[in-house]
Amino acid sequence: MTSRRIDVDGVHLAVFEAGEGEPLLFVHGFPLNHESWRPQLDEFSRTHRVIAPDLRGFGGSDVTAGTATMERFADDLRDLLDALGVVEPVTFCGLSMGGYIAWQFAHKHPGRLRRLVLCDTKAAADSDEAKENRRRMAETALAHGAAAIAKALEDKLFAEATRRDRPEVVAMVRRMIEGTDPEGIAAALRGMAERPDMSESLEKVEVPTLLIVGVEDALTPPAEMKRMAIALMNAQLVQIADAGHLAPLENPEPVNAAIRKFLEETE
Ligand code: MLT
Repeated sequence: MTSRRIDVDGVHLAVFEAGEGEPLLFVHGFPLNHESWRPQLDEFSRTHRVIAPDLRGFGGSDVTAGTATMERFADDLRDLLDALGVVEPVTFCGLSMGGYIAWQFAHKHPGRLRRLVLCDTKAAADSDEAKENRRRMAETALAHGAAAIAKALEDKLFAEATRRDRPEVVAMVRRMIEGTDPEGIAAALRGMAERPDMSESLEKVEVPTLLIVGVEDALTPPAEMKRMAIALMNAQLVQIADAGHLAPLENPEPVNAAIRKFLEETE
């Protein structure tokens, strides 16, 4: 696996690449980095070119203060693909916030998209209450650091089985969040609060779409993803047992099997 930093619009983005063949773009959730896709990167680099950036503000990428909108992230990814010489349409795999970005990528850069694999995400915008929570969380991150955010999120992210049987996954996620720059956390929170409601635009998404959700996902529950599967033109939904909001990391085997099957069926 190679790791490089690429200049995109004056911002250095860290990107991890491995394998050869059809490109799969893995876009992490909040407040994580490319490492959250590790089980998928290991599996799919055997057969595909996997590309896993750290979004601006996260992991090894530069941090920009202010508001990081989902549109901005989507444009960063288009610019990154340009810089990597990836001209063919990609399969965009997004987890949670990565899914919010995927809707913008599909909307703004449809010619760059071949398929969607969306895990533990939603299309709706934030309620007023959720926006206010984001504002408070951004203040907490800036005042008390990323560790306070890790603590606040820990109870919400995982299935019971993960907490009980896979403490190493819980610890890895905690380290990932604690290592994130509070300015990056705050910028993404402001961006998520501003994101548009995409529920009414789902019927315009034409590419084959695989939706994956952890049965115990408390943040973007199966019922929400079922509604999306119905609204999308060409989607299938797979539910993953013993997984919460981070299904690809918590229970990677069935997630990888579902992605592999989807890639083969939609070749
Ligand atoms: C994520 O996992 O990316 C977050 O749960 C998204 C959010 O806070 O809405």
